[in-house]
Amino acid sequence: MKLKRSTLLIASALLSFNLHAAQTTDAIAPEVASGFTEKASVSADDFMVAAANPLAVKAGYEVLKAGGTAIDAMVAVQAMLGLVEPQSSGLGGGAFLVYYDAESQKMTTFDGRETAPMAATPELFQDKNGEPLQFFDAVVGGRSVGTPGTVKLMAELHARYGNQNWAKLLEPAQITAEQGFIVSSRLAGAIAKDQKRLSRYPDTQAYFFTPDGEPLAEGSLLKNPEYANTLATLAKEGSAAFYHGQIGQDIVNRVNNIPDNPGLLTRQDLANYQIKERSVTCAPYRQYDICGMGPPSSGALTVGQILGISSHFDLKAMGADSPQAWQIIGDASRLAFADRGRYMADTDYVPMPEGLLDANYLAARAKLITPGQALEEANAGEPRWEKAMTQADDESIELPSTTHLVIVDKAGNIVSMTSTIENGFGSRVMSNGFLLNNELTDFSFASHKNGYPIANRLEPGKRPRSSMAPTIVMKDGKPYMAIGSPGGSRIIGYVASSLIAHIDWGMPIQQAVSLPRLINRFGTYDLEKGTTAEQFKTPLEQMGFKVNVRDLNSGLHAIHFDNGKLVGAADPRREGIALGD
Ligand code: GLY
Repeated sequence: MKLKRSTLLIASALLSFNLHAAQTTDAIAPEVASGFTEKASVSADDFMVAAANPLAVKAGYEVLKAGGTAIDAMVAVQAMLGLVEPQSSGLGGGAFLVYYDAESQKMTTFDGRETAPMAATPELFQDKNGEPLQFFDAVVGGRSVGTPGTVKLMAELHARYGNQNWAKLLEPAQITAEQGFIVSSRLAGAIAKDQKRLSRYPDTQAYFFTPDGEPLAEGSLLKNPEYANTLATLAKEGSAAFYHGQIGQDIVNRVNNIPDNPGLLTRQDLANYQIKERSVTCAPYRQYDICGMGPPSSGALTVGQILGISSHFDLKAMGADSPQAWQIIGDASRLAFADRGRYMADTDYVPMPEGLLDANYLAARAKLITPGQALEEANAGEPRWEKAMTQADDESIELPSTTHLVIVDKAGNIVSMTSTIENGFGSRVMSNGFLLNNELTDFSFASHKNGYPIANRLEPGKRPRSSMAPTIVMKDGKPYMAIGSPGGSRIIGYVASSLIAHIDWGMPIQQAVSLPRLINRFGTYDLEKGTTAEQFKTPLEQMGFKVNVRDLNSGLHAIHFDNGKLVGAADPRREGIALGD
């Protein structure tokens, strides 16, 4: 059996892929899947950008072509994504960025994650009896809105690494917002799927629906003069307009005055917001170093654990068609997710074990796996921890949305950035032409269990744990690949399995990105509906897994440094492209 889809399957998927199929396992509608369009890899010599929407990619491409840096291009791409892919990321959200600086040959990371308002308490998402709220009761409205970080990330990194005029970088998105853009199939599908929640607030409804109350259809022209004004203000006044000026005041007014579910954000929260530069978290895998975002993201640690545990098995010899290979990857993921749930959170607030990536610890975790037989249960381990404390497993819910972009400039600087407003359309609250995030629901709704604290509990000023895994892979001390994906907590499996497909199974980057997905986090094996992944259902069940066939909605973008060439790949499940010269 070949994992690559047959032409027939692709043709039939294009015809019949159900754009609005319910994603039943979470019993909650996430960002909608939007079909599958076969894509070929793209090669270039000097620079490249890959992201989730062609208009955004073109904006970044023009910047790079004009001699702009990867960070300059990121500013242009993010400004455009916030307009044309508003359900996934934008000025009202947060992001993590892994940066490789060509001159110093050093990597670093930037944390533009949202923060909890200082007035927020651990009980924010509990009812008066201390019971967790229903997910969307928490999400929709002002309550879930954290202090946005994306604008400051754009501005601070531009000041540090950019060489193009800030206002010019915002201009393409500003012009497109004034003149309008064509609503894509993905955006139209997402609006259609979320009509009830998008109708809750009149300004959000007015933006995403026709005057007759119909959800905007694919092909509609959508103008956003408010967003254009916001970009014009940012162009003139910089990020101060957002964190200290009128844009911030508007956001605070909006969040606090939502009649049915107000939030707690203040001017002071915005004024205090900081981008945090953090050391890169790297884990070895075979002859590569897999580097990414440490806490408050669980991305690099969990990807690193999955790969570190899997490295004790000969996945290459087993091959991509082997159910046993997927059993091992699935059980390695479950063990890694058990540690994630127990230990990983914002380390500026909670202590975390030092030994989560220790080779001996991961070897001991690998010994728990029996080839051919699913683990009966996967519990958190006991990694090295100088100041151990007893903590409880978390109860966070994360749903697929978000966006990932990768950029390489002419000088060889690299950006791998995952950007989000959390759930598709975030809190559904708009201000100044953009949607506000619901990132606070990435905290555990419960703060304690059986008397023990949960690491990812909500605390004032804390950053909610993320799964975002913007990654740069190094080989022999040189950049080898930049990759990442949206997809809630499945991001981790999308990135890890793509790396295994490329490194162990020799798949070219586009094939690894297109690979039918098999994802395990908490025990149930999710197999991507309508793909050859379904063929693993019976063997995985026979090994003891509960299996669920469902839409899986990755959005991987990657650039591979392939012997002097840049080879870019875009996920066939989204609308993105790679473009370079
Ligand atoms: N809100 C998605 C994530 O941060 O993982």
